[in-house]
Amino acid sequence: MGAACCKPEAIDFEGEVNLFHFYLLRSVGKGAFGKVRVVQHKHTKTLFALKYINKAKCVKMKAVANIVQERRLLEEIDHPFVVNLRYAFQDDENCFFVLDLMLGGDLRFHLDRAGAMNEETVRFYMAEIASAVDYLHSKRIVHRDLKPDNILLDERGHAHITDFNIAVHFSERRLLTGVAGSMAYMAPEVLTKRGYSAPVDFWSLGILGYELLFGKRPFRGRTNTALTNSILNEPLSWPEDAASKVSTEGMRAIQSFLERDPNRRLGYRPGGGGMADIKAHPWFRGLDWGALHRKEIVPPFEPDSKRANFDATHELEELLLEENPLKARKRKEGQDVEAMTPEMRMMEEHFKVFDYTRAQRRSYYHPAPGTGTSAQTTSATTAISSNTAVSTSPTSKTIEAPETRMPSRPTTPSDRTGVISRTGMDVEAQILDGGGMANLGGRGGWKSSDIEMSPSPLRQPTPLRPA
Ligand SMILES: Nc1ncnc2c1ncn2[C@@H]1O[C@H](COP(=O)(O)OP(=O)(O)O)[C@@H](O)[C@H]1O
Ligand SMILES: [Mg+2]
Repeated sequence: MGAACCKPEAIDFEGEVNLFHFYLLRSVGKGAFGKVRVVQHKHTKTLFALKYINKAKCVKMKAVANIVQERRLLEEIDHPFVVNLRYAFQDDENCFFVLDLMLGGDLRFHLDRAGAMNEETVRFYMAEIASAVDYLHSKRIVHRDLKPDNILLDERGHAHITDFNIAVHFSERRLLTGVAGSMAYMAPEVLTKRGYSAPVDFWSLGILGYELLFGKRPFRGRTNTALTNSILNEPLSWPEDAASKVSTEGMRAIQSFLERDPNRRLGYRPGGGGMADIKAHPWFRGLDWGALHRKEIVPPFEPDSKRANFDATHELEELLLEENPLKARKRKEGQDVEAMTPEMRMMEEHFKVFDYTRAQRRSYYHPAPGTGTSAQTTSATTAISSNTAVSTSPTSKTIEAPETRMPSRPTTPSDRTGVISRTGMDVEAQILDGGGMANLGGRGGWKSSDIEMSPSPLRQPTPLRPA
């Protein structure tokens, strides 16, 4: 009996992908609520990154809709400068994303270790990231959380955008108003809550470029109020030695990304085509964008392949402190979704299996009927959720449940809360809403005066590496 119990069961690689298909290797990262480790596919031997999120924790942090949303958006996209999704699946405890492995480390790691970067390197990262942002916008996806922590280098040194946890679909006819992102990188129009759209990513790109060049951000403040004030009102200033580090063209490009009026911001043109302005900008003169896209340009910085480009504390923490280490476990049989809490049911039903070797990528962008009629455009600005959890650290992510719109009903406070308590079908209807996503949190309204309230009662403050 003993021998029989311990005999490893054969793995069915023809069946649905699950954690048994992978060897679990070292831990390399931790974000707002996901943990990341290297895994190897047992059959193909390919290395990947495994990002996993504990379901119970996800419910507690009111981030169920975000995780479903992240899974859906990742399924839609495939780009050389995005950390692409290869598999998604779940077990009773966790939701799993298997992603392209980035062995070069994230830009926060490199900023912390080596400090500011030279202009050529920054220009190269900005070009690669701008090209990925343009791609995302062409798919009507706004990332909303561009910052060094979410830009990962592969082993050759190419930059990739990751972390679609608060990304959403946008529609030019209906602006977003939820305060989501990491405050230090938030565009002014996010903070003023008058409505925003895709240009917010170009603002964040400007902050990112400035930070990479000078090792600090242009707008700072000790409190959230001071930071907000700086982002909204303070003139853009440069370090005294800026001119010795960056060309005039480089400073002009950063300045144009940090244009407070989104309609005049570099990268954005109402109706599309803003990437042409980036390509034509003197800072990028001479850059072969075709070669860039094909990854034929040799990156100016090659990450050291002999040492790990990850913070060793992730591995140590996992070894020493994790009480329930990750392990492949069989799913309980005969589970009744009807008996599950609505949140658990939502993950069960909507965090679907994805396998890049079998699936066709598909879009979940379905503009709701009537989008753009004047009545709806007007009501949209009020219908949008203002529920937001604001975290204490300016560089840590503020997560809001993806936004919802219910065009056929008047917006009442009860429409904007407690959606999770309805049936799975309702949740699906809202998840599929093209302009945004379900507000499942019911966190209560957010007022600008609350922004200094800390920490959010509904969201655990996340220990972050200092920026
Ligand atoms: N594909 C990957 N390859 C290597 N490291 C990764 C990968 N994805 C994430 N990481 C590491 O894990 C960290 C957290 O991942 P992220 O997707 O940003 O999670 P969160 O949504 O919790 O912020 C990243 O900042 C990065 O250091
Ligand atoms: Mg992150």
